Amino acid sequence: MTKEQATVLVTGGAGYIGSHAVLALQQAGYEVVVLDNLVYGHRDIVESVLKVELIVGDTCDRAFLDQLFASREITAVMHFAAYAYVGESVTDPAKYYQNNVVGTLTLLEAMRAAGVDKFVFSSTCATYGVPTTVPIPEDHPQNPINPYGVTKLMVEKILQDFDHAYQFRSVRFRYFNAAGADPDGRLGEDHTPETHLIPLVLLTALGQRQSVSIFGTDYETPDGTCIRDYIHVTDLAQAHVLGLAYLLQGGATTVFNLGNGNGFSVKEVIETARQVTGRSIPAQECPRRPGDPPALVGGSDRARALLGWNPQYADLQQIISHAWQWHQLRHQS
Ligand SMILES: NC(=O)c1ccc[n+]([C@@H]2O[C@H](COP(=O)([O-])OP(=O)(O)OC[C@H]3O[C@@H](n4cnc5c(N)ncnc54)[C@H](O)[C@@H]3O)[C@@H](O)[C@H]2O)c1
Repeated sequence: MTKEQATVLVTGGAGYIGSHAVLALQQAGYEVVVLDNLVYGHRDIVESVLKVELIVGDTCDRAFLDQLFASREITAVMHFAAYAYVGESVTDPAKYYQNNVVGTLTLLEAMRAAGVDKFVFSSTCATYGVPTTVPIPEDHPQNPINPYGVTKLMVEKILQDFDHAYQFRSVRFRYFNAAGADPDGRLGEDHTPETHLIPLVLLTALGQRQSVSIFGTDYETPDGTCIRDYIHVTDLAQAHVLGLAYLLQGGATTVFNLGNGNGFSVKEVIETARQVTGRSIPAQECPRRPGDPPALVGGSDRARALLGWNPQYADLQQIISHAWQWHQLRHQS
């Protein structure tokens, strides 16, 4: 099958990473259909910017999914739909097991019933828990420390078992911190509530928040603040296109880290954002949050070697510049 004939169902395509993946798939010549329940997604982005079909529905609804697969020739599914607020997963785990695990299993069962057997899954570095080696390789033990990470690990295990039992092939991508925005300003990050550092810093630069909180300044890192691997969302989207092509060409079920292999501290991010925006961005030092590992940095050699993935926007200044361009357009009237 050529990619012009392949139709990809993108769940969560009205969200942050999913919308960038839809754009990358379109640019690569695929037909795309978006499925999103719009709990967090943005209808205007799908309809006015991406201009692809939006099916509003829920991955937990089996009858709806059966109808969807019966009415379209779907070649593969990219599954971004999930809840991803770590703190909320601790206070309301049922919501996370229901949506992220039961919802995904329902989707997988509907796919199997319809004979669709290729799946690209959004997993996370949160499945590793507190790493014992950095950069973290894919074969690092997975000991998640919050229910959100557990839900993603459970789906990873389901996918391994499905491969073994049903020859259901999947690519599992463990993202590090998705950041940045479409370099042409069409798409970007717009979560409500927002918990990610770069958008919080930029909303502070726009005057929509009073200050940025720095959680912990006494970690064993060069400046005492946590270090994270920020991966540009357009590079993540490109990896998904490559992962899909890999599956369509008969590639075996595999897991890939997606990170830059470089870490930046919270203070470095805030300082770089001050330079990019030219604004002061007040910051407030706060105690550590429970469950924040000092450093999370991913080794992505496997994705480079097997998929030919070559991230284009590893520079933190560029990642923040693209996010700033988007935030100014989206949030400043
Ligand atoms: N943002 C990150 O840094 C990051 C890091 C690692 C993994 N991830 C994973 O990547 C995926 C996308 O993250 P994001 O930041 O784009 O999140 P997002 O909230 O912007 O997008 C998720 C989308 O899924 C939709 N959705 C949720 N549950 C659904 C359901 N049951 N049925 C249909 N639609 C549903 C939401 O409305 C939303 O549009 C998630 O699976 C997340 O766990 C994100």
